[in-house]
Amino acid sequence: MEIIKSTENIEELAVDGIVLGCYSNYNFTEHAGMRLSSYLEKYKELEEFNDEKENILLYYIDGITAPRVVIAGLGKKEELDHEKVRIAANNAVKLLRKKGAKRIAIEVLGNDGQSTSEGVLLGLYEFIELKSQLKDHKFVESVTFVGNENQLIDVDVGIITSEAQNKAHRMANLPANHATPTIFTDYTKDIFKDIKNTEIIVHNEEWAKEKKMGSFLSVAAGTDEPAKFLEIHYNGTKDDVKPLVLVGKGITFDSGGISLKSGTGMGLMRGDCTGASVVINSIYGIAKLGLKLNVIGLTPLTENLPSGKATKPADVVVASNGKSIEIDNTDAEGRLILADALIYSETFNPFAVIDIATLTGSMMSAISDGFIGGFSRSDVLWSELEKAGIQSHERYWRMPLDKHYKKQIKSDLADVKNTGGSRAGAITAALFLAEFIELEDWVHLDIAGVSFPENRKPYHPNGVLAFGTRSIIQYARNIVSKG
Ligand code: BES
Ligand code: ZN
Ligand code: ZN
Repeated sequence: MEIIKSTENIEELAVDGIVLGCYSNYNFTEHAGMRLSSYLEKYKELEEFNDEKENILLYYIDGITAPRVVIAGLGKKEELDHEKVRIAANNAVKLLRKKGAKRIAIEVLGNDGQSTSEGVLLGLYEFIELKSQLKDHKFVESVTFVGNENQLIDVDVGIITSEAQNKAHRMANLPANHATPTIFTDYTKDIFKDIKNTEIIVHNEEWAKEKKMGSFLSVAAGTDEPAKFLEIHYNGTKDDVKPLVLVGKGITFDSGGISLKSGTGMGLMRGDCTGASVVINSIYGIAKLGLKLNVIGLTPLTENLPSGKATKPADVVVASNGKSIEIDNTDAEGRLILADALIYSETFNPFAVIDIATLTGSMMSAISDGFIGGFSRSDVLWSELEKAGIQSHERYWRMPLDKHYKKQIKSDLADVKNTGGSRAGAITAALFLAEFIELEDWVHLDIAGVSFPENRKPYHPNGVLAFGTRSIIQYARNIVSKG
């Protein structure tokens, strides 16, 4: 799909349909609406137009070149926020797509260029590359964003954040045979090939052995697919400035291993690499925006499968910091691969470490798809992420990283156990991770609930959601603008 930006008059654009924003009671956002104000005078008698979910579709308006005009309801002006703009933009362009419009122009809604382009580009994205036939499928060929120079600068930001999230969505949804750890690293190289100041290093199992990453390698033991450990560097500022390190869970398929999951719904575990997809593509977004900070991405990548070589319950393995781990359940594999990645993250002397993982069914039960559940030792770092979450509407909820629960992961055999019983499973998983990182400024994000949602936003695609991509980019933008 072609993306165009224009400062021209939207009324004169030769497209198949245009979108104009409108507040309650026919209060248009931009001058193009003025023409419609008198036209719509009589509508006011017929219906209220107060809801941000409402659209009006009109045809062949005098003075407007495009045959279709959608008036996108934004609700009351004083109540408008970023999320309402995303939803309005999404709803309006999808209505035009449904009507067969291939070339669409949309004015910046509510003076919010970023949310306008996010609503459109997240909304029009579909993961359909594996279908060979698309009968009656309706595609949009081009979208033109119309606004003034300043608004179009914000449109550009939204183009990049949406592109990052859509790429992350793709990587998260590719089935395991289309995204082995090796293929996953190839895609990553491809994504970064033209992005300045970035470097992709793909470590193999030999390297992990040298680093004594016994915890990570214990998960890779059961599969024939070679495990990889991806390291991405974005050098956005001077070398001596401490980096932000992002760590993502990259299980390209989680069968549970010897502690095999039941068959129902197991296919969804193709998305157990969502954390890694989010890390890779938030760095892509940050680099594309040219933000002045250093970021390192670390994603251990492997399948978790049962076999004659697989790790078994009660096996004891040793992580790269020397701590021994009793593998109580091989399905609690995410924390095992993250343990070694978190230990490695501290060698970069980071100012903050954020790990992101589809880690526990427990987090899904606790807060489902409304919030990213997070844990942190640092109130400051937490509040910064929380703020970015509100701006991007990928909201965060803080859970207790409290030693009260620590006895649940005590092991008789080893220093620590990889499960903590049926209660407070997301918390005991976080406490397990805390054994492998000492940094105060660390956040663990469990995205199991939000990535496998029951309730989606109108602009969300089907499948596993790469939740967290936009908020992490937003967090980086805030850090940079704060200085
Ligand atoms: N990948 C799963 C967690 C998960 C479940 C994510 C459902 C998204 C949707 C993880 O590896 C896992 O299996 N966790 C177990 C841990 C348990 C064995 C302690 C879980 O949460 O049930
Ligand atoms: Zn698992
Ligand atoms: Zn898993």
